[in-house]
Amino acid sequence: MKVTVEASASSANLGPGFDVFALALDNPRDTVTLKAEKSTRASVGIDSVKGIKTPSTASKNGAGAVCLAIAKDFGIKERISIEMVKKVPIGLGMGSSGASAAAAALAMDQLFSLGMSSDDLIFYAGMGEACASGTAHYDNVSASILGGFVVVRVGKRPAAMSWPAPKDMALCLATPKLDLPERKTEYARSVLPSSVRLDMMVSNVANASLIVSGFARGDIGMIGSGMNDRVVEEARKRFIPGYDAVRKAGVAAGAAGVCISGAGPSMLALVDAKRYSPRDVLKEMIRGFGSVGVEATGLTTVVGQGASVL
Ligand code: HSE
Repeated sequence: MKVTVEASASSANLGPGFDVFALALDNPRDTVTLKAEKSTRASVGIDSVKGIKTPSTASKNGAGAVCLAIAKDFGIKERISIEMVKKVPIGLGMGSSGASAAAAALAMDQLFSLGMSSDDLIFYAGMGEACASGTAHYDNVSASILGGFVVVRVGKRPAAMSWPAPKDMALCLATPKLDLPERKTEYARSVLPSSVRLDMMVSNVANASLIVSGFARGDIGMIGSGMNDRVVEEARKRFIPGYDAVRKAGVAAGAAGVCISGAGPSMLALVDAKRYSPRDVLKEMIRGFGSVGVEATGLTTVVGQGASVL
């Protein structure tokens, strides 16, 4: 028995939607292949990882942790072996752990015909995030599983919904070359405030509402106008030299909005590709990093589909 699943990278938060919003990116993507063999006792092992290096002990690997959790909850007794092709870069704010955790959850569901709902898949994929970053957050995994723009409600069990992106929406991701802490997301979460002022909450609710309304109406300008956060980015921007310059440069080149991608350090811009050139926006964002002496690389892509069985 063998199943291969592909799941794409993602960009979480979109500014005010910390832990609630994310966009699936069309590329890069991770693939996870699971094989099950009869065995006298349940076990999960990582047979091979191609591409970007990732932990090879199942319990320390996001995809492995998801398989272990599902095997335990569903009483699966087989030996499960994992082969991964890891292309989503780790620690750059593109939902790397989420992509392979999402692929692993769907692969387990298919391999053992578990009949999980998308919210069940998101719940288990969140365990991969917990393994990688210390906290089970569900925004990235929701996007990698459902595709499009997602909103996830967090409670005892996550519940997510997805909207397609407006037709001409392009995405630019500019990534500065920085020395980052090893468990970067865990670190980037540790600097966040535990309480917020009422005026900041009001501002974030208004901006988040603009983003959701923009997706409902297919209005890229409205989505971009909501990409302003006064809570999380305020705390994180000091770790991203050039943050202000990159936002300014992106908007000046035509971006509808610019924000930190996930926990950073990449910056995401949304562009109406019918009116502006995504390549030019990216070039200006990279120049923005350059203006403070930071080298950067980048990519342009579009909003991606959800995880799929190959
Ligand atoms: N919402 C999460 C955070 C995403 O910002 O910490 C991490 O990719």
